[in-house]
Amino acid sequence: MQPRLSPKLLQIVFDNVYNGIYIVDSRGVTIAVNRTFEEMSGLTHAELAGRSLYDMVGEGKTFSGSASLLVIKHKKPVTATYSTSTGRKLLVKGRPVFDANDEIEYIINTIWDLTVVQYSHQIDADTARAHLLSEEDLVTCSEQMMAVIDLSLRVAATDSTLLLSGESGVGKSLLARTIHRASQRKQQPLIQINCAAIPENLIEAELFGYEGGAFTGANSKGKAGLLEIAQGGTVFLDEISELPFHLQSKLLGVLQDKQFFRVGGRQLQQVDVRLIAASNKDLASLVAEGRFREDLYYRLNVVPIHLPPLRERRDDIPALIEYFTDKYNRKHNSYKKFSNNLVQQLVTMPWKGNIRELENHIERSIVTTPGDLITQDNAMIPGLTQELPDSMTLKQLLAEHEKKILLKAREKFGTTRRIAVALGISQASAARKLKNLREETYS
Ligand SMILES: Nc1ncnc2c1ncn2[C@@H]1O[C@H](COP(=O)(O)OP(=O)(O)OP(=O)(O)O)[C@@H](O)[C@H]1O
Ligand SMILES: [Mg+2]
Repeated sequence: MQPRLSPKLLQIVFDNVYNGIYIVDSRGVTIAVNRTFEEMSGLTHAELAGRSLYDMVGEGKTFSGSASLLVIKHKKPVTATYSTSTGRKLLVKGRPVFDANDEIEYIINTIWDLTVVQYSHQIDADTARAHLLSEEDLVTCSEQMMAVIDLSLRVAATDSTLLLSGESGVGKSLLARTIHRASQRKQQPLIQINCAAIPENLIEAELFGYEGGAFTGANSKGKAGLLEIAQGGTVFLDEISELPFHLQSKLLGVLQDKQFFRVGGRQLQQVDVRLIAASNKDLASLVAEGRFREDLYYRLNVVPIHLPPLRERRDDIPALIEYFTDKYNRKHNSYKKFSNNLVQQLVTMPWKGNIRELENHIERSIVTTPGDLITQDNAMIPGLTQELPDSMTLKQLLAEHEKKILLKAREKFGTTRRIAVALGISQASAARKLKNLREETYS
C-alpha cells in the first residue's frame, strides 16, 4: 500500500504531536524517539538509538523501559507511570505491533508528561501539607483499567466534576492523583480530604476555614480551609458518603456558585477548584435511603468512573506482581523473585482487599521468605491459614486447597471454558480436574 504522507511529512508530524513517542523492537532496542519525547525525558535520540532497554534498566535509566519490557513479556498493551531520575513523572502507554506470525515486531510507546511543580513548600500549614497527595506509580495491562485510564486522560483536561467508585484498595486515590497530574491544573495544589477520617465537628472548619473567634479554641486570626488552599487546583474528596448531611448542601453551593462562607464568616470566599470525589459505597442506594443528598449526587455524578475490583481484571495481577516485586526489592535491598507457579496461583486468589492487599502480600513475602526464589512452598499464601493439620503432607494440603478453588470456580463460572480462563489453565485441564473431583465425591 502506498503511504499517503511523504516520509518528510510523516517526520514532521512525528516530531510535532503533543505526546512523546518512543519505539523499540522485540529485543527492546530503541528504533526511534520523537522530539517531544526528547524534551520530556531529557534524553536524545543519539543517546538512545540502537541501545537495548535491558542494558539501560541495568544502569537505572528505566523510564518507559519497563513498560516496553512488560509488553514484550506479556504480549499485551501496558499502561504505566514512571518517575525519572530527573524528577519528572511520565505516563506511558505501550502497544505491541505484531508481525504475520503473531510475534511482536515493535512496541510503540505513547507518553504523557505528568510532571507537577513541587508546591508543598508554598503551603505553610502542616495540616494542609499533610493533605497533599504522596507519590506512587501505577501499572496495568487489563483492558478494563486501560479503558478507565483512557477515559480519565480524556476528561482530565476538562473541568468536569468526577466521581470515582470502586471497592477499597482498587486505586481510586492513585487515579485521582493521575488525573490531577494530567490536567491543566497540575501546577496548582492537589488537596486530599478523607471525609471519614476527620471528626464530624471539625470537618466544616477544616474544609471551609473559619474566622477569628468563630469558636472556642480557634486561632484568633482565623484560618483558611482546605478549599481555599487548593485555589486554582484540585480537591479530592475521598469517602464522600461520610460527609455530614448539612455540609453536603454547603458543598453543593461551592460546586454551583464557586463560593462559600468560612465558619463564623460574613464575607463570601471565591474559589476556583476542580472536584474529584470518591466512594467505595454505592451512592445511588444511599440516596434512595435518604442518607445522601440527591441534588449533590447528580452534581457529582457528571462523569462517573468505575474501577473494577482486582478479581474482575486478573490480567493485571502478573504485571502488578512484577511492579511491586521491583518496588520492594529496591526498598529492602533484595533480589527476590516469585516462581511462575506461584504467580499462577496468586492470579486465582480472591483479593478482597484488591491491590492494597496484593501489595501488602508481596512486601510481606519479600521480607519474610528466605532465599531469592519465592515459591508455593515457602510463601505465605493468603487464604491458607497458619494452623496446619499435623497429619497431612504438603501434596495433600495443596490438593485440598485446589479442590476448594475448583468448587468455587465451578460455582462462579459454570463452564470449563470460563473456569479455564479465570484460573489460567487449559480447558482440558479444567475438565480433567473437575472430573476427578466428581469421581472423588461419588466414590
Ligand atoms: N494500577 C496500580 N498500579 C500500582 N499500584 C496500584 C495500582 N492501583 C492501586 N495501587 C496501589 O494500591 C494501593 C491502594 O490504592 P488506593 O489507595 O488508590 O485505593 P483506593 O481505591 O483509594 O482505596 P480506599 O477506598 O481504601 O481509599 C496504593 O498503595 C496504590 O498505590
Ligand atoms: Mg483512597
